Amino acid sequence: MKMLMRVLGVLGLLLVLVLGTGASYAGWQAHEFNASMDRVYAVPVPDITISKDPAVLARGEHLTHSVMPCAVAECHGGDFGGTSKGPDMGPVGHFNAPNITTANLGAAYTDGEVFRLLRHGIKMDGRSVRFMPMQDSNWLPDSDIVAMISYLRSMPPVDRPNGSTEIGTLGKVLDRRGMMPLDVARRIDHEHVELAPAPSPTRDYGRFVGRLCTGCHGQQLTGGPIPGAPPSIPTPLNLTPDKSGLADWTYEDFAKLLDTGVRKNGKKIDPFMPLAALARYDDTERHALWAYLQSLPPAPFGNR
Ligand code: HEC
Repeated sequence: MKMLMRVLGVLGLLLVLVLGTGASYAGWQAHEFNASMDRVYAVPVPDITISKDPAVLARGEHLTHSVMPCAVAECHGGDFGGTSKGPDMGPVGHFNAPNITTANLGAAYTDGEVFRLLRHGIKMDGRSVRFMPMQDSNWLPDSDIVAMISYLRSMPPVDRPNGSTEIGTLGKVLDRRGMMPLDVARRIDHEHVELAPAPSPTRDYGRFVGRLCTGCHGQQLTGGPIPGAPPSIPTPLNLTPDKSGLADWTYEDFAKLLDTGVRKNGKKIDPFMPLAALARYDDTERHALWAYLQSLPPAPFGNR
C-alpha cells in the first residue's frame, strides 16, 4: 500500500510537471504572439487615385469575388458589410470580418491605407491585420489593387455592426509554431513583395492564384486536418496529382466542381470550401490554377 501511494505520488508529481511545463510554454508563446502583434511597421502609405471608369470597377468587382475573395459571404460579405458568421474554430479562436463600407471602418481608412493593407497586411494603426490572408493574396499588380479599392468605394454604405474576432491561446501557439498564419504582417517581406506576371493560363500564373488554397489545403497542398480545428470543420483534401488526390481528374472534372459544386466522386462539396469564389474564376484563372495543380509533385494525403 505504502509503495502504491509512493508510485501514485510520483506519477502525480510528473503530471503536474508536464501540465505546468505545457502551460508555461503556451504562456510564453502567447506572450511572443502579443508582442509581435503590437509591433508598428514603418511601411509608408502610398498616394493612390481611385477611378470611376466602368472597366476598372468591373475588374475590381471580379477580383473581390474571385481570386481575392473579400466579398464572399464568410468574409466581408457581398455588400462589404461584414459578417458575424465567420469561422468559429473553438479554442483556436473565432474570426468575423468587419464592415468595410463607409458606414463603418471604410470611413476611417484612406484609399492609400487600404492599399497598404492589401499589399502588406498592415492596418491603419501600423500593426498587423489578424487572419485576413494577405501573405497569400498580396501579389496582384498595383492597377488591380486600385481597381478593387475603386469598386469597394463605389458600394453603398451598409448599416451593420461588426462581429467579434478573438484569438485563443491555442491559436497563438499554432501561429508561433508556423501552423496557422494569424499574425499576417510578420510573414510578409515588406521590402520585396513578389508580384505575379501578367495573367495567362499557365503554371507560372497559377502558382500565385493557388497560394490562397494553402490556407486550408496546407503548404504542399496535400490536405489533412487543419491544426487545432474542431471536428465540425471538414478535412481539406489532397490537391496534388497523387492517387489519394487529383491523379485521375481531368480539367473538365475540375471545371465541373467549380460550376456545380459536385466532386469527381459524385458527392456535393462541403460548404466550408469557398466555392462561391472559385465559381467566379475566369477561364484564364481556372486554366492557370489547373496547370499549377497538375505540375505539383504527387504526394500522399496529409503530412501538412
Ligand atoms: C476555407 C478552406 C478552403 C480553402 C481556402 C480551399 N479549400 Fe478546397 N477544400 C476544402 C475542404 C474542407 C474540402 C473538402 C470538402 C468535402 O469533403 O466535401 C475541399 C475540397 C477541395 C476539392 C475536392 C477534392 C476531391 O477529391 O473531391 C478541390 C478540387 C479543392 N478543394 C480545390 C481547392 C482549390 C484549387 C483552392 C484554392 C483556389 C481551394 N480548394 C481552397 C477547404 C478549402
